[in-house]
Amino acid sequence: MNAAASARHEVVRDAMVPAIPRSLVTGASGGLGAALARRLARPGVALVLVARDAARLDAVARECRARGAQVETAVLDVRASDVLAAFVASADADHPIDAVYANAGVEASVGAGRAAEAFDDVTAQLRTNLEGAIATVLPLIEPMRARGSGRVVLIASLAGLMPLPDQPTYCATKAGLIAYGEALRPMLGAYGVTVTVACPGFIATGMARGYRGWRPFEWSAEKAAAHIVAAAERGARRVAFPWPLVGLIRLGRLVPAFMREPVLKSLFRADIEPMVAERTSSPPDNAASEHISDESRSLRPLKKLSSIER
Ligand SMILES: NC(=O)c1ccc[n+]([C@@H]2O[C@H](COP(=O)([O-])OP(=O)(O)OC[C@H]3O[C@@H](n4cnc5c(N)ncnc54)[C@H](OP(=O)(O)O)[C@@H]3O)[C@@H](O)[C@H]2O)c1
Repeated sequence: MNAAASARHEVVRDAMVPAIPRSLVTGASGGLGAALARRLARPGVALVLVARDAARLDAVARECRARGAQVETAVLDVRASDVLAAFVASADADHPIDAVYANAGVEASVGAGRAAEAFDDVTAQLRTNLEGAIATVLPLIEPMRARGSGRVVLIASLAGLMPLPDQPTYCATKAGLIAYGEALRPMLGAYGVTVTVACPGFIATGMARGYRGWRPFEWSAEKAAAHIVAAAERGARRVAFPWPLVGLIRLGRLVPAFMREPVLKSLFRADIEPMVAERTSSPPDNAASEHISDESRSLRPLKKLSSIER
């Protein structure tokens, strides 16, 4: 990772980035991540936007520039976690990142007739939602601590607080992210770095379009982003919404599992379209491990897995 970081470092340092507040958002090419980017975009701020789809990422970057922000994009797959971590470390060394929104995520469900989840779907969710999110924030922990300031925002889900029977892995990744943030918070809080764990309910995004099930109290991505950014900027520990679902979850926790489980099972049937092949096979997995094992070729997987634009 060090070799990759220093290699990337050289590339990034060639371009000048002004000393203005800088936020990094993963999964910024659409849905909540794009809405977060638009919400953060204004004159006098810099954004680093990360996702896999270059065309969609560029479109969001253009919108953010139109709002006055300085924007840098990185076409990266967060599942290539060593490449991602090297990029984040290098970007921060080039110019400090003040706030990081670990947002990129995917979801799947059990199969037809509630068959077990496909293993590819399991690993895609673990690697994107948990490994990718941790690899996004981990390189910033020591630099933020040393600077005595910073905001870490983890986009989890209400599904991490109330696991749904049809989405075991998705719920596990979100519960894991909540636990990670809560463990991190006391350690970083002492150094002036805030950790905000966001637990949204249903949001009308691309993710929602693949979900054929009941989505009560669904919010727009813009409304959710505004809520999350406001919470992060005031240093809130957790932001969970919408309140009727948060209230139901609190009540549900008081009810014995044998009563709660049948209700969840019948109300939240998550029949999600299988992930498309690109999503499960696109990260050049062996390229990322090649990159770890062969430092002399560290730039090759970086080029293959990512591209950076300003
Ligand atoms: N929608 C909801 O109801 C809901 C509710 C609670 C929590 N959340 C959470 O909110 C976050 C955003 O979800 P969303 O609803 O906005 O979903 P979305 O519309 O499907 O957007 C997901 C974003 O993540 C990016 N992404 C996915 N896999 C990636 C990877 N391997 N590497 C880099 N980027 C990747 C996608 O971009 P590319 O395809 O270009 O890579 C896209 O920009 C997720 O963490 C999700 O779990 C969503």
